[in-house]
Amino acid sequence: MAPGNSMTSPLYPARLDWSTGLPMSADYGDVYFSRDSGLAETRHVFIDNNDLPQRFAALQNGELFTIGETGFGTGLNFLMAWQCFLADAPAGARLAFVSTEKHPLSPDDMQRALAMWPALAAEAGELLQQYQAMAPGWHRFVLAGGRITLTLLVGDALATLPELDASVDAWLLDGFAPSRNPDMWQPALFEQLARLSKPGATLATFTCAGVVRRGLAEAGFAVEKVPGFGSKREMTRGRLATPASTGWSPPWYARPQLPEHLERSAIVVGAGIAGASIAYSLAVRGWQVTVVDRHPVPANEASGNPQGVLYTKLSPHFTPLTQLILSGYSYSLRTLASSLPQSDDTWRQCGVLQLAHNAEESKRQQGLALAGLPHDILHAVDAEQASQLAGLPITQAGLYFPQGGWLHPPALVPRLLDHPNTTVRLATAITELSQNPADHSWVAIGSDGPLAIGGIAVLATANETVQFDPTFYLPVKRIRGQVSVVAATPASSSLKTVICGEGYISPARNGTHCMGATFKFDTSDTQPCNSEHQENLDMLAQMAPALHQALGGDSLAASQCNGRAALRCTSPDYLPMCGAIVDREAFNDLYAPLGRDASLKLSQDAPEVTGLFVSTAHGSRGMVTAPLCGEVLASLLDKEPAPLPKPIMDAIHPSRFLIRDIIRQKLRERD
Ligand SMILES: Cc1cc2nc3c(=O)[nH]c(=O)nc-3n(C[C@H](O)[C@H](O)[C@H](O)COP(=O)(O)OP(=O)(O)OC[C@H]3O[C@@H](n4cnc5c(N)ncnc54)[C@H](O)[C@@H]3O)c2cc1C
Ligand SMILES: C[S@@+](CC[C@H](N)C(=O)[O-])C[C@H]1O[C@@H](n2cnc3c(N)ncnc32)[C@H](O)[C@@H]1O
Repeated sequence: MAPGNSMTSPLYPARLDWSTGLPMSADYGDVYFSRDSGLAETRHVFIDNNDLPQRFAALQNGELFTIGETGFGTGLNFLMAWQCFLADAPAGARLAFVSTEKHPLSPDDMQRALAMWPALAAEAGELLQQYQAMAPGWHRFVLAGGRITLTLLVGDALATLPELDASVDAWLLDGFAPSRNPDMWQPALFEQLARLSKPGATLATFTCAGVVRRGLAEAGFAVEKVPGFGSKREMTRGRLATPASTGWSPPWYARPQLPEHLERSAIVVGAGIAGASIAYSLAVRGWQVTVVDRHPVPANEASGNPQGVLYTKLSPHFTPLTQLILSGYSYSLRTLASSLPQSDDTWRQCGVLQLAHNAEESKRQQGLALAGLPHDILHAVDAEQASQLAGLPITQAGLYFPQGGWLHPPALVPRLLDHPNTTVRLATAITELSQNPADHSWVAIGSDGPLAIGGIAVLATANETVQFDPTFYLPVKRIRGQVSVVAATPASSSLKTVICGEGYISPARNGTHCMGATFKFDTSDTQPCNSEHQENLDMLAQMAPALHQALGGDSLAASQCNGRAALRCTSPDYLPMCGAIVDREAFNDLYAPLGRDASLKLSQDAPEVTGLFVSTAHGSRGMVTAPLCGEVLASLLDKEPAPLPKPIMDAIHPSRFLIRDIIRQKLRERD
């Protein structure tokens, strides 16, 4: 399979045959593990033959160990590596585990398979709490209080690994036997293993097949046969002997260059969902974080609505935006599942119905329904099924997203900020960020002087990001939006799912429904107004007439609505901006030759403003993109595997507009 968009290949969930009491693949005719010896075999083949216990024990506090795996399957290898890491590594070391899986198990099959290993019950329970039906794409899990991350690349390993940005210490080469799964054990796979390996990286695999040993050797690994487990006479282990030569990649999208002895402390300006998510991702990794916001409470601007919808408007063409949204959606759901109990106050995974409200939308939905996404991610429903799901008459067909729902961002944001490593300073506006040239540390300054210091600084200040000197040039655009809040009635309380069309409405939260939202350009006004309440009511009457009637119909006046207005922050391509900031003038000078020839393979490092980062422009879907962007930044800072395919990491890089402008020879002037 050619490298490229790792989501475009059809993917279907694992089909398991349980007739022997063991999980067996109906497609490959092979077992996931053996009943008597599953744990001991994993321990022998993958853990001990990579010398993991000794290598974990030798780690320093703050050090990261990265494991790569082919074939996640039931997660048995992962859970054993996790348990072994907690037993052997020092408390301040961290484990990043990246695995590939072409046919993810359903949550039920996963639970059934892992129930066979009581010794792993604690780890399995934590994984299963976050494990839902998997869409194609990349899925980040944060586990064991942040000491362990799992990045699960759902798709064919031959398509996902070429898009991975990681440095692997040890490989667990699972996957069914080469004779049953020859498509995977290909030279292209071995080349990727070598590309992604640190010097001296090790590997272990149960197989001794010649095609595997020869392929690994050709890719640069020194391999040897060693005794296999139990009745299996031999297995293979190896070590990278000849590092792969790395090809050119655009330096303007490279990982940030960080000071060698970087102080693991951060200033995060902005306590909306973007800032709180960064604080969370850094704090669980042991960073000391100071979050500063100008308001007396967190989540007081765009992140302050009573109900935000976990909503995914996808393209059947799996565009970069769609890939980001699918990964972000599943990560937000896992964050909620692991950090905030569901209630009528906090969040509800009540499902989301997207109605086909016009011909274009209907066409998009038909394309998506046929795109091969698992039924539990989305499926088409007719008007009658939609009515049953909604609990009220619905007149249009649509798509149903069973995992979606609503959340109360002002409940999630404080939860993300509530960590012993995080200090929150509210009612504190930052007017300037200043950098100490000696050690590159940052100072956040307010009207009364310095307020916080940190080894790095992150601006999660939405539209206000352009008020800061180093980030003045980011092309953010404000779009006002207003939500309307109306009292639930006995009839409207039967609404069971979120309904979306031109706008959205959620099931009642504490006796009120939240609907919205309007879009108004070229204004910074955040006063709610009756005309926009009326727009929201008109939207509802059009989208769900029965629900509109249940709420009072035409007798429900705009003046009876409560609500709030805030400013969204968007970018020209509607993707967020997340990553390192560069010095614009120096960047334009350095890469100016691209204006004459865009194909030049320039190699100079980007002139970064050392240690300054942003997470902004989350547009209309910050509930879905902002939490994952916290993981993006933390992974860059801690040199972990990226949680998104490289093309998507590049697509959200803040420098993308500068490089596009150079290539189009259109350098923007300040003002
Ligand atoms: C009406 C409306 C409805 C929406 N509905 C949904 C939805 O259903 N689902 C969804 O996913 N998304 C929705 N969104 C989008 C979502 O709310 C945003 O994408 C998200 O809240 C952006 O989060 P943020 O942290 O980037 O920005 P914000 O929440 O605006 O946070 C920025 C923070 O930075 C602080 N700040 C700025 N400058 C300074 C400074 N100089 N010093 C100190 N602090 C500073 C601000 O005080 C603010 O708290 C909606 C948005 C609106 C407006
Ligand atoms: C023997 S099972 C793995 C067992 C697993 N490591 C565990 O701990 O349970 C092999 C796995 O490889 C997956 N697989 C097979 N071909 C693949 C490919 N080309 N890319 C990614 N995964 C693949 C299968 O779907 C299956 O889940």
